[in-house]
Amino acid sequence: MKTSDIFILAIESSCDDTSAAVLKNNTVLSNIVASQKIHEQFGGVVPELASRAHQQHIVVVVDKALQDAGISKQELSAIAFTQGPGLVGSLIVGASFAKAMAMALNIPLIAVNHMEGHVLAHLINDGSPIPNFPFLCLTISGGHTQIVHVESPRKMTVIGSTIDDAAGEAFDKTAKILGLPYPGGPLIDRHAKLGNPKAFQFSKPKIAGLDFSFSGLKTSILYTLQKAEKEDPDFIEKNLNDICASVQSTISEILFEKLVVAARDMGIQEISIAGGVSANSFIRSELERIGSLHGWKTYIPQFQYCTDNAAMIGISAYYQYLNQEFADQTASPRARMPVGSR
Ligand code: KG4
Ligand code: ZN
Repeated sequence: MKTSDIFILAIESSCDDTSAAVLKNNTVLSNIVASQKIHEQFGGVVPELASRAHQQHIVVVVDKALQDAGISKQELSAIAFTQGPGLVGSLIVGASFAKAMAMALNIPLIAVNHMEGHVLAHLINDGSPIPNFPFLCLTISGGHTQIVHVESPRKMTVIGSTIDDAAGEAFDKTAKILGLPYPGGPLIDRHAKLGNPKAFQFSKPKIAGLDFSFSGLKTSILYTLQKAEKEDPDFIEKNLNDICASVQSTISEILFEKLVVAARDMGIQEISIAGGVSANSFIRSELERIGSLHGWKTYIPQFQYCTDNAAMIGISAYYQYLNQEFADQTASPRARMPVGSR
């Protein structure tokens, strides 16, 4: 261990995953995620249950992260936590834990923006290529859909975002209509592999500029299925794979149409995707296909760094540590926290 090495324990608890990670500089030593199964039966995250589950998981998850990293608490340089955006009750659990631990160890506290974390997951030193600045990141998650212009780890601007539902919500709400449990994205991905993406046509939004909309797609899917079920009550069951493939390819088209315009307008060919929906196998392969048509260099995070995880909070915190950007004990969770806000 060099004395100049920075060891950060990062905690993520913005939604329904309790996660802790330990980083040595920009390298991940451990990344533990405890997902909450309890929400499956409700078709979405129940905030009250999520914060209780965080409370139950957090000590175990942090202990395991330190153990797997082979690091003692006394070796830590700082404690980082997700300040927002997210569910306040969930954020409070991680924030309070981080504050108490930083105070007890008398080391700095670092407050991280969750959406910036998704973007900066690309800077984790895991052997995969790291984007060159400036790059564009299409961040697609359960709560957000954004095109981010990234000039440096601490300078990024949202140049397009959804005006209603997020891409992940489009997956999850479709899954709910189809009778699949929450979160539906991974299940749609699985069924779509066996289906025909051209089997059904759904309407696509006409939104100016770089913004997105997904609420019309949900309505279009609902009407199409209601009409078909009147004629055949088993329509969904019989056509599940084709429906999933068609919905998935429509969501992908909506996303990439705007990403192509953004890349052209900004004159940038370093293009990345991030967030839970970037775990989608079709969207991952589409990025490569479309990227090769446009001469892009494309970047996709490892699966474990797509969906919510504390390693991405740790890498963001590492850059904040280098800038000595520390939080004080009054830092409170922020349900809304725009990318780039300081
Ligand atoms: O980033 P994330 O883990 O949490 C938020 O910050 O929201 O993203 C969760 C979202 C959910 O909507 C989930 O259905 C979606 O990511 N997701 C997927 C896949 N894996 C996760 N959507 C499509 N295909 C997947 N394979
Ligand atoms: Zn997320």
